[in-house]
Amino acid sequence: MLRISEYSAMAESAIRALSLPSDKFEGLYAPISYSMQAGGKRLRPTLLLMTADAFGNDPEKAINPAVGIEMFHNFTLLHDDVMDKSGLRRGRPTVHAKWDENTAILSGDTMLTLATKKISEVDDSILRSVLDTFNDQALRVYEGQRLDMDFEHMDTVDLDQYIEMIKAKTGALLGAAAKIGALIGGASEKDAEKMYEFGVMLGVAFQIEDDYLDTFGNADVFGKPIGGDINNNKKTFLMVKALANGGPNAEALKAALKLPAGPTKIKTVTRIYETMGMPAISKAEVAAYSSKALTAIKKTSLPDDRRESFRKLIDKLISRSK
Ligand code: IPE
Ligand code: IPE
Ligand code: MG
Ligand code: MG
Ligand code: MG
Repeated sequence: MLRISEYSAMAESAIRALSLPSDKFEGLYAPISYSMQAGGKRLRPTLLLMTADAFGNDPEKAINPAVGIEMFHNFTLLHDDVMDKSGLRRGRPTVHAKWDENTAILSGDTMLTLATKKISEVDDSILRSVLDTFNDQALRVYEGQRLDMDFEHMDTVDLDQYIEMIKAKTGALLGAAAKIGALIGGASEKDAEKMYEFGVMLGVAFQIEDDYLDTFGNADVFGKPIGGDINNNKKTFLMVKALANGGPNAEALKAALKLPAGPTKIKTVTRIYETMGMPAISKAEVAAYSSKALTAIKKTSLPDDRRESFRKLIDKLISRSK
């Protein structure tokens, strides 16, 4: 197998080489290039390529679906940034901030279709199962995003509800990336399912880390506005867990939730989280879901050296700062 950085470099160069009509419909395609060429970790295509390779296919054979899964991810981000009123991503203005909301909606729709076309570029023998996997998990992403918004208006959300929500909005796509990679690699049905499980658990760990970084990250490195989740009353891991702890800190948190969005609200909520020891609690939860991801890998028929690559991917993601 290759190093993780080599799979992401493969994805990056295929994305660089993407050709979109640039002479016509400037307002439709320019925002797509802007989004796709802005870097990002390329986690989902990396996972797809790695998995295809792990199960014995040439990762180059998986490159188009890998680009497709990254295109889908970027589509969800265009719409997510409208829903989350977020002005910054990967250190640059979001599409709706640079153009407008209608542009984010329509270029996003276009990306969904382009993504589906790319993901369809697989052998006929697996086309049906690849598309079913992709479409089913895309629906899960929308369901998760719906819950994420509904939760903004609920006073309390319990930990189980939160985990269900992030399994859908974030876990489903990582699960799809791993499963599609496995199908392209020629994995058995059982192995493909275990890889799906791996992706979902990795996604849960990844989203809890994202929630942590949204409050405690460094804005310059993270590339997104710090405190956005607090301003939006998002039921993040930090919020759900802190409210569940009860006591005077949880009461103070409930009061702080009623503050208007702004720096005072962010500062107040952040202090309460610190007092409650939320950073360490959140790290522990990330570690717990990482081991669930590892357990799924151990249930596959992959040999030890190949399992090791996935373990390294987990390590890389849980120690990230962006
Ligand atoms: C952002 O995904 C959306 C989440 C699921 C947290 P990434 O953190 O993978 O974003 P990029 O692609 O690296 O910018
Ligand atoms: C996004 O979750 C998950 C998606 C399906 C896009 P977030 O709203 O936390 O993602 P960021 O923090 O904006 O990247
Ligand atoms: Mg969101
Ligand atoms: Mg968001
Ligand atoms: Mg986030």
